[in-house]
Amino acid sequence: MESPSEVRLTKSAKRAGCAAKQPPGYLLPLLGMLPEISDPNVLIGSATADDAAVYRINDDLALVLTTDFFTPVVDRPYDFGAVAAANALSDVYAMGGRPLTALNLVGFPDATLGVEVLAEILRGATDKTREAGIDIVGGHTIKSEEPIFGLAVVGTIHPQKVLSNAGAQPGDALILTKPLGLGIVTTAAKNDEDRLAAIGDAIRIMTTLNRAAAEVMVEVGVNALTDVTGFGLLGHLRNMVSASRVAARVWADKVPVLAAAREYVRTGIAPGGTHANRRFLTQWVDFDPSLTEPEQLLLCDAQTSGGLLASVPAEKADHIVARLHQAGVRDAAIVGRIEAGAKVRIKVESSGPT
Ligand code: CO
Ligand code: CO
Repeated sequence: MESPSEVRLTKSAKRAGCAAKQPPGYLLPLLGMLPEISDPNVLIGSATADDAAVYRINDDLALVLTTDFFTPVVDRPYDFGAVAAANALSDVYAMGGRPLTALNLVGFPDATLGVEVLAEILRGATDKTREAGIDIVGGHTIKSEEPIFGLAVVGTIHPQKVLSNAGAQPGDALILTKPLGLGIVTTAAKNDEDRLAAIGDAIRIMTTLNRAAAEVMVEVGVNALTDVTGFGLLGHLRNMVSASRVAARVWADKVPVLAAAREYVRTGIAPGGTHANRRFLTQWVDFDPSLTEPEQLLLCDAQTSGGLLASVPAEKADHIVARLHQAGVRDAAIVGRIEAGAKVRIKVESSGPT
C-alpha cells in the first residue's frame, strides 16, 4: 500500500475533478422527467440549474443546500481534500449565502490505498472548512474502486437576498473572478505533460475560497451570481442566460486564462469533459469564425473550484472589479455583457471594447 507522501492520487482514477461530472446534456432532460417540486418553501430547486437549493425556514431565514464530490484532480491527498472542500463551499457563496456546517462524503479503495491517505484528504478538507469558519460535523464512507471525496454543505441566507443565476438584466456587465484553464492544466499534470510546471498555480487557485469575492458581490450588490465549475465558463453562462431569459456576449481576449493552459490546449491537451461541454454548447453559442478550436475549448474548459461569474449593473462594474482586486481577487475582470434576447444565445467575439 502506498503512503500519503508517495501516492499519486490522479493515477487512481480514470476521470478527474469536475471533468468527471455528467455532461449538462445528460442531466437536464433527466431532471425534466422527475415530478415537479411542490413544497412552497423551496425558493430555489432544480428547475433553474442553479448552484444550490434554497429552502425557506421563515421570513428572515433560509437554508442553502448543496453537495459536490469527485475523483482526484490532484496528486497530493491533502490538496485533493482542500480543493474538494473549496469547490463544495463555493456553491453556497455563489448563492450569496454563508456556510454553516458540512458533512464529508467519501468513497475509498481501502485495498489499494493506506488509511493515512484518507486521513490526509480529510485533513485538507478540515483545514479549508476552518478557513471558511465552519466545522465538518460528520459524514459517510463507502468502499469504492476509485477515491471519491466531497462535502455536503449547509449555509444560511436571508430569503430576500438570494443571489440566483436568474436575475441577469440586459446591459449588465459580466465579471469572472478566477482564470480559466484549470481542467486543461490538471489534465496535463495527470498525464505527465505539465512541462511548464503550472499545477502549483492551479492548486493555489482551486484551493482559494470564493468567500472574499462573494463578500464584495453581496456588499456592492449584483443581479445574478453563479460559479464556474464542470460546465465551463460558457456552460454556466448558458444556465444563467437561460434562467434569466436574456442573451449574452463574451469577449475572448478579456477572459483571464492560465498561460500554461493556452499553451497546452494548442497541443491537444484537454479533458474529455471540456470537449463534451463544447459539443453540447454549439446549439447556443456563436463563436466568431476567427476563434480557433483551442480558443473555444478554453472557454468551455471544465473547471474544478473555479471562480464566481457575476452579472452586475454596468455602472457598478468597474467599482466591483476594483474592490475585488483590493480584496486579493487579482484575476477578476469584466469578460462580457448581458443583452436582451428572446432565445438563449451567447455570442463570443475575439476581442472586446478597448
Ligand atoms: Co456551482
Ligand atoms: Co456544484
